[in-house]
Parts: sequence; C-alpha cells; structure tokens
Amino acid sequence: MDKKRLLFVDDEPMVLKGLQRTLRKMRAEWEALYAESGEAALDLLASQPVDVVISDMRMPGMDGAQLLDIVKERHPKVVRIILSGQLDRDMTLKSVRVAHQLLAKPCDMTVLRDALQKTLALNQILADDAIRRVVARIDTLPSMPASCTAIMTELQSDEASIQRVADLIARDLGMAAKILQMVNSAFFGLYRRVTDVKNAVMLLGLDAIKALVLSINVFSAFNTRKIPFFDFEGLWRHSLAAGGYARRIMTLATGERDRATAAFLAGMLHDIGKLILAVNFSTTYRELLREVPATTGERLDRERELIGTTHAEIGAYLMGLWGLERSILTAIAFHHCPQNSPVGGLEPLMAVHLANGYDHRLTDSHQGGGHPDEDFDMAYLEDLGLVENLAAWQQACADLEEDMP
Ligand SMILES: [Fe+2]
Ligand SMILES: [Fe+2]
Repeated sequence: MDKKRLLFVDDEPMVLKGLQRTLRKMRAEWEALYAESGEAALDLLASQPVDVVISDMRMPGMDGAQLLDIVKERHPKVVRIILSGQLDRDMTLKSVRVAHQLLAKPCDMTVLRDALQKTLALNQILADDAIRRVVARIDTLPSMPASCTAIMTELQSDEASIQRVADLIARDLGMAAKILQMVNSAFFGLYRRVTDVKNAVMLLGLDAIKALVLSINVFSAFNTRKIPFFDFEGLWRHSLAAGGYARRIMTLATGERDRATAAFLAGMLHDIGKLILAVNFSTTYRELLREVPATTGERLDRERELIGTTHAEIGAYLMGLWGLERSILTAIAFHHCPQNSPVGGLEPLMAVHLANGYDHRLTDSHQGGGHPDEDFDMAYLEDLGLVENLAAWQQACADLEEDMP
C-alpha cells in the first residue's frame, strides 16, 4: 500500500508539535504535513497531493468547517476529518455536514490510527488494485443512461421544478410505469392510489424521486438478456424490499426524511454488484451461484477467490463512478461486514445491513429455509446501542412486507 499523506491543520503550534512527535512512530504508514491556518492548508493542498485533511474546528479566521467546506468543493477525493476539543451542538452540526468523521481532542495514537484506517478503508476499496484489475477485464461498465442524466441534472439544479421533473419522467414510459408501481407499493405508505407522475413527485418530494429514478436506471443499465441463468426478478424484489425496509428502519431510528431517503437508495443499490458480476463474468458466476447457494459469507469468499473482488466492493466502485455520495458507497461496500466500515452512527449502512438481513429472514421463513450466515454483525450493532431495537424493527419490516406487491 502506498503511504498516505495526512495534512494536520491547527492554529496551536503546540498541538502540531505533539502530533509530529507521535506520528513519527508511524512514518512507514503515513506521511504528515502541517499547517497553522485554513489558508495555509489550502495553499498546501493546491501544490501537492494529500489523502486526508485533519483539521481543528476553532481557529481564528477560517474555522475548520469553513476549511473543509472548501476542501470538499475543490478536492472532493480528500478525506475530511475534524479533530477538535469541546464541540457544542451547533459546532457538531456544522462539522458533520462537511467532515467524514469527528474526533475528540486529545486523541491518542491508537484512536487516531484506527479512525484513519477505517476512514481510508472505503478509499482503499475504491482504489484497490484487485478491483482495478477486475474492472480492466470488463468491456464496458454501464454509464448513466441519457434519460436519467437529464432528470438528474434537473433534480440537482437549485430551481428544480416539480412540473419539469414530472414531464421528463413521463417522456420515458417504462420509467414512468416503474415509478408509479414503486410509489404505490406499501413502502411509501401513501394509502391512496397515485396514477400520475406529477402527483407522485409532489407526494414524495424531489429527493425521494431522485432515489427512485436513480435505482430504476441502475438496474436498467444492465443487459439482462445476456444472463438468463440469473434471477433478475428475484434481485429486483430483494432490492426493493431492502430499500423499503432500510427506509422504514431509518425513519424509526431518526425520524429524518433525508436520512430515510438515503437509506432507501442504499438499500435499492446494495447488491447491484451481483449484476455486474453476473453480466461480466457469467460462466464463473453461474458456477459460483450453483456451488454456493445463498450462504452469503461463503459466497463473498468465493467471489473474491474466483473473480478477485466481491459484489459489495464492485458495486460500490461502479456507483462511485456514477458520482454517488460517500455514505451510500459505504453502505454498499460494507453491507455484509459493517464493523470494517469507516463510519459508525445512524448511517445508511446501519439500515441496509439490517434491511438485508431482515429480508433474508422474512422470505426464508416463507420457504421454510434459513440463512445461517445472514446473521447480523452483533458487535457492530452493540456499539451503536441498537440491539434492543432489533425485534421491533423486524416486526415493522414484516408489516410492510405483508403489503408488498
Ligand atoms: Fe449482498
Ligand atoms: Fe442483499
């Protein structure tokens, strides 16, 4: 692995000196740069490559959040961490919007090292040589379809209009039909039939529509005629269920609509890598599915052995190329092993990990079978203090599933 370049920003020279001393022991892994102000940090960033910026919050002039905001804009690939003393609620809110991670000062070496390793884990997956080799063997990675790009552009503009979005969707009959079908499924709990796209957009809001458009297009970007052996309908059903459950779980956990929408999108896309593998490595993947039925843990190992990457990693990689947010990529990449993930907290990953497990449990109980390996990562859930919610959340998902189309 290449050495990572860290840039520490703090207005207190003493803090930087202290860091310098501790980091010396880790010269083999990290190379550290130091800056005493936001402005100095930006100069450094402009002149040389940096992997991670670790900034203090309170600094005269530009504060940490302002700095990271600019870093996000100018150097989107750089990982952003706030390392700070006391943070009040306002400061915390300000920092979580721009930082990938918050660390409290003083921060001992093992904590910092662990945080850095985890924060870089996603980048490592996305920049992994094995994945690059796999990707090099893929003739064409599907790109975002043109109809989707137009809708996305409209949705991302500051003056996105419900009417224009609805018109664009209605122009694509297949997509309009799919959207109405999804909107009318129990997951959105609208309790009345929606028959036109404009109403759907108004009722759900632009963010939720964006998630729907994107996931429908991701699926349709793959030519599934090439893979008759693959249960495409089954994957679509599982993805829709996982999206719906993840949305429900996040709503129960936080009550926040934005987060619930992000969880929905991550749930819809979490297994998209299976399609990539099935389309591009069809002979190997067909064998693999036959040989290792449904016990996911083992399947992941076999994927890595035979193809060189897993459906989780390659899915995150492709969605990274499509420009999806980091929290969605993290959820896709780590949905089977959340304890290895960069961020804790009530992130889409948490909801997707649970939603995926619930769907396996709920569908298997119908078929009388079990997925022993689909068990939850209890250590991770304990860390988040969520263990006592598991039964109630499973019930809430089962209630949704009753009304599934
Ligand atoms: Fe999976
Ligand atoms: Fe899954």
